[in-house]
Amino acid sequence: MIAPRRFSRLRIAAFAAIERLAVLLGGRALYRRRHLGRGRLHVREEWVEVADLPEDLEGFSIVHLSDLHAGPFLGRGDLAGVRSVLEGLEPDVVCWTGDFVVHGIHNVMPLQEELASLVGARATYAVFGNHDYLHREEGRFVEAMEPAGWRFLRNTSELLEVGSARVGFCGIEDPEEGKVVDVEGAVSGLRAAAEGERPAVIVALSHGPRAAPEFAARGARVVLSGHSHGTQVDLPLLRDLGPSHPGLRVELGGTTLVVSRGIGVIGAPLRVGVPAEVVVLRFRSAPAGDQG
Ligand SMILES: [Fe+2]
Ligand SMILES: [Fe+2]
Repeated sequence: MIAPRRFSRLRIAAFAAIERLAVLLGGRALYRRRHLGRGRLHVREEWVEVADLPEDLEGFSIVHLSDLHAGPFLGRGDLAGVRSVLEGLEPDVVCWTGDFVVHGIHNVMPLQEELASLVGARATYAVFGNHDYLHREEGRFVEAMEPAGWRFLRNTSELLEVGSARVGFCGIEDPEEGKVVDVEGAVSGLRAAAEGERPAVIVALSHGPRAAPEFAARGARVVLSGHSHGTQVDLPLLRDLGPSHPGLRVELGGTTLVVSRGIGVIGAPLRVGVPAEVVVLRFRSAPAGDQG
């Protein structure tokens, strides 16, 4: 568990003032036009090589979405671009790595229907991010999205059958704000699967990327994270205001950490040098002799 970041009252007041001003100046419409519109949303393709990949998983695809941050700068009607990208990709699975809101779960409730259309053909998994626990109402979002097939991984795992093969998905509560964060508990169900039912690949979801080494130590081939927004504003001094950004793709021995730049923003409707993005990840066989 990582100590949560806490800001001074002065800094919180300054952020609130900037946010209010940006809202008054039409920040939401500006953000939608500049970052979420057709041709603006970045689609990043990542291939992951897996040793002894079963034939049924060749080309298996996961769309990774993160940091929606519904709130002052993203609301109902703003996800048409994301939906159009997903319709083109037709992923097997969609994975969400948290921070659905800015100020509280009430921010995302009006987007239920739009979000229900952003699902994978086989499954949709989600974990929460630090913002989602504000007022501790995240259970309302679980209840709203489960009927649409969303599965929340809260220190838990699920085994997905794909033909005669299996992919294991596991996820944890947010490493900073989750009350109980249990990496071992999240993975153990997959590792305990009976011979012949074990997943060929384990994919871990963790909002904060700093939990990745713990998943790597427990056999995850891929860790999906967000939280850093790719720095959001890639300029000297400003890039260090947010959480530390480890990079977009980091190899940790045999584990690949993929960090999404996210869809939404916090603070101001501003991204500089850092597009909003949809990541699409695909599996392929590692060349013979490569441990993948
Ligand atoms: Fe975020
Ligand atoms: Fe976050």
